[in-house]
Amino acid sequence: MNADKHQVIDEIILQLQDLDVNYGGIKALKKINVTIKKGELVTLIGANGAGKTTTLKAISKIVNPQTGNIIYNGHNINRCQAHEVVKLGIAHCPEGRRVLAKQTVFDNLMLGAYIRSDQEIKADINKQFDLFPRLAERRNQLAGTLSGGEQQMLAISRALMSRPKLLLLDEPSLGLAPAIVKEIFAIIQNLRKTGMTILLVEQNANLALQIADSGYVLEAGSITLTGAASKLISDERVKQAYLG
Ligand SMILES: Nc1ncnc2c1ncn2[C@@H]1O[C@H](COP(=O)(O)OP(=O)(O)OP(=O)(O)O)[C@@H](O)[C@H]1O
Ligand SMILES: [Mg+2]
Repeated sequence: MNADKHQVIDEIILQLQDLDVNYGGIKALKKINVTIKKGELVTLIGANGAGKTTTLKAISKIVNPQTGNIIYNGHNINRCQAHEVVKLGIAHCPEGRRVLAKQTVFDNLMLGAYIRSDQEIKADINKQFDLFPRLAERRNQLAGTLSGGEQQMLAISRALMSRPKLLLLDEPSLGLAPAIVKEIFAIIQNLRKTGMTILLVEQNANLALQIADSGYVLEAGSITLTGAASKLISDERVKQAYLG
């Protein structure tokens, strides 16, 4: 599962500069620095409570950083609100999927397009159904009755409905059987091949580093290691702490 490098161009899409996030007295992120280039698949790995979800929430403006900058396509988005960030092309596929259980697959996908007013929404839903045939078969099924893997596919697909330039994925493998995880990771790899820039948060460091271009290790709110995914996967510190 070697990442295919040729599509990465040298243009930076996102930069986190000395980002601090506190929840009351808890310092969840301590001056973290992350750089993502266009077309890259970057993974952020770390143990429970390391600050992975907080990093994604800061980018999508669900939480506000105390200090530091979030630079997206050359613009500081520190002061943007969550819906503005979606309009700028950042989609967040949250931890635990968060599909609307009592709405159908189709309606969940429509919801993903809430910021759009163009005429191509229905056509994009059909594209999603080509990409995720399992969702096509279940388009009128209530999302809450989908399997865990299908809900994850729906959550990714819903995020894609905003036509993002940067996709944030929070633990897509969580709680899924190995065969489904393989399927989801193949989908992520395919998205990357289409040129999508992806920030993938994972506890499954081994799988994430296998498909990523580069990686960051987050420990108790600080970035402790960074580099090419192919280097990190054979780094003794990473092996001992995250690869068993
Ligand atoms: N809303 C909140 N209020 C207070 N503390 C919070 C809140 N959300 C997260 N935290 C704390 O911030 C730290 C980082 O949490 P975060 O959810 O970002 O970790 P994580 O790396 O995503 O963990 P996991 O792998 O368990 O999902 C933790 O110590 C957590 O308890
Ligand atoms: Mg988390």
